[in-house]
Amino acid sequence: MTGAAKIAGVIGWPVAHSLSPRLHGYWLAHYNVDGAYLPLPVPPESFAEVLCLLPAMGMAGVNLTIPHKQTALEAVDEIDDVAKRIGAVNTIIVRDDKSLFGTNTDARGFLANLKAGAPAWAADSGPAVLIGAGGAARAIAVALLDAGVPELRIVNRTVARATELADALGDPVKVHRWDDRSEILAETALVVNTTSLGMIGQPALDIDTGGLSVGTVVMDIVYSPLETPFLTAARAAGAVTVDGLGMLLHQAAPGFAAWFGVEPEVTPELRTHVLADHVSETGDT
Ligand code: ATR
Repeated sequence: MTGAAKIAGVIGWPVAHSLSPRLHGYWLAHYNVDGAYLPLPVPPESFAEVLCLLPAMGMAGVNLTIPHKQTALEAVDEIDDVAKRIGAVNTIIVRDDKSLFGTNTDARGFLANLKAGAPAWAADSGPAVLIGAGGAARAIAVALLDAGVPELRIVNRTVARATELADALGDPVKVHRWDDRSEILAETALVVNTTSLGMIGQPALDIDTGGLSVGTVVMDIVYSPLETPFLTAARAAGAVTVDGLGMLLHQAAPGFAAWFGVEPEVTPELRTHVLADHVSETGDT
């Protein structure tokens, strides 16, 4: 690093679990960038103050993780349409005029990972199913609607949350009862688990994959383990499976490009590097 190094980081509370420093650190070294990416533990009561100081400290920008992604919607100077619709900011860019621009790269990361893992999938291949209706489901729903899926089926344990998502997102979204989660897999092109079920320490997603068509793409946002029991069962039923690590890696690329001026690539070497020694979680920054 020189005195002119560009500085970015991830703000969270806690932040020690975040894989982002390891991920951006790999790219910084690989592309020989004069820069640094830091874990920044900031409690909620200090978040607004810390955001205001980013331009004064000459920082290029930050990623946000729990619990700051929603708070940031009101705390930055401008957000784009995708952050507004997802209802969360995960990437902030400090602009030349010192203002803060907030976006959300989860939808782009999801689609990039899907295209990389299942190149034959196309939005018009058929209906898509989302299992879960939390923050991750919302980002993926926005991605799939923008891509042009003809029908999006959402199934969630708490049906009111799925209805709220459907009401916010509009027409091709249909809400289904949790008890019908196995039946609605029939004749679909894509199924995504957005819940934490299947993660190490959590029960598996209890669903019958027998009704999946051969060739349906099945993705899990859980990446610890990389192959969840749901993905194992889906593969046995003839599905094409995509694990959740790629979404985390791909969502990081736009921020890196904006802060450090290099468009980074998601490679098998990056996957191996990020996985070494990692602990936990779902596809969160
Ligand atoms: P995230 O932002 O990571 O999506 P979240 O907003 O807490 O996290 O959402 C978690 C999702 O996992 C929700 O869809 C949740 O269902 P509820 O809305 O009914 O809570 C789902 N989930 C978590 N544990 C679950 C379980 N044991 N059975 C079924 N769904 C579960």
